[in-house]
Amino acid sequence: LIVPVILAGGQGTRLWPLSRSARPKQFLPLTGSCSLFQETLRRVCGTERYAPALVLTNADYRFIVAEQAQETGIALGGILLEPVARNTAAAIAAAAAYAIEHFGAEAVLHVLASDHVIGTGDDYWQAVDTAAAAARTGLLVTFGIRPRRAETGYGYIQVGEALPGGVSKVARFTEKPDAATAESMLAAGGYVWNSGMFMLGARTFLEETRRLAPATHEAAIAGVGRARTDLDFIRIDEAEFARAPDISVDYAIFEKTGRAAVLPVSFHWSDLGAWDAVWQERRRDASGNAVAGSATLTDTANALVISDHGHVVVQGLDDIAVVVSEDAVWVGKLSEAQKIGPLVKRLKADP
Ligand code: GDD
Ligand code: MG
Repeated sequence: LIVPVILAGGQGTRLWPLSRSARPKQFLPLTGSCSLFQETLRRVCGTERYAPALVLTNADYRFIVAEQAQETGIALGGILLEPVARNTAAAIAAAAAYAIEHFGAEAVLHVLASDHVIGTGDDYWQAVDTAAAAARTGLLVTFGIRPRRAETGYGYIQVGEALPGGVSKVARFTEKPDAATAESMLAAGGYVWNSGMFMLGARTFLEETRRLAPATHEAAIAGVGRARTDLDFIRIDEAEFARAPDISVDYAIFEKTGRAAVLPVSFHWSDLGAWDAVWQERRRDASGNAVAGSATLTDTANALVISDHGHVVVQGLDDIAVVVSEDAVWVGKLSEAQKIGPLVKRLKADP
């Protein structure tokens, strides 16, 4: 059995003003009637490969997670609560420690982000099985996506020598390169994006964490060791877990480990990072307009309009996004939607 580990503790700031710290993007129905978190949960149920899923999230999101899981009718293996946000390295290490306690040292974890749209055809399941077999041989496997542009928000993997079992060595892993580096990797070829979805032996992962990120290892092990159960939740110990540094698994482990392997894949994958990606994923009319909620568009093309709060009228514009929430409106060029990140940080500091 594979233990699904769903990471649902991120903040998703670039999808402001719908994604807010009280209800970040993974809990929003951005592509259909279910939230991305619920879609992720659906993906790991109804196949015999998987044990019930472990969900790792911030304590603040415990009721959203419990409620949204209940809506799907899917039983969870557990909801582990991080008392403070310490990023994905600590979250995955905590999941690995918990999985070893409950499923044994040989447990294989399928680590899933909760902000991805994924096509689950046969090629997807084939990749899952190939990755799981490789993980059982002691490799830390990531799924690699063919790069489509010089995106700076992703990790880049230089694909190395082929290994038995259909995966390749990671020659080099570069998390979130600057624009020039991303351009040059794209031009050079032989690179794939890190999907942010991993297949890991729990024991191997913890061994590498102990070696490469000892403070994370210690904090996660002790935090889970001293966890307490509260209703349906497993609360990781705060004093212990708070000692973990705030670092993502990409920087802490994947850039450094020699045990990383990559499986290049071709199934549909999208990280709904910013509004342009949401537009890509939504149904569009012949003019390229995607509308959710109440709106009238005239002489307008390539627009994304989302409003559950008031009627939006757009006239004579191209390449535009209008996102209306209860208490805020964002209007911007769709093609520059990525630039919202620093702006939202500023708004948070000084609203
Ligand atoms: N439990 C928990 N705790 N989950 C977290 C935390 C945390 O502290 N921080 C982030 N997450 C969750 C997010 O909700 C998301 O589902 C996933 O972990 C990945 O975090 P992101 O913040 O979305 O990472 P990213 O998109 O910037 O980068 C990662 O994904 C890219 C592909 O989407 C990296 O792995 C990149 O290398 C990769 O290319
Ligand atoms: Mg992401």
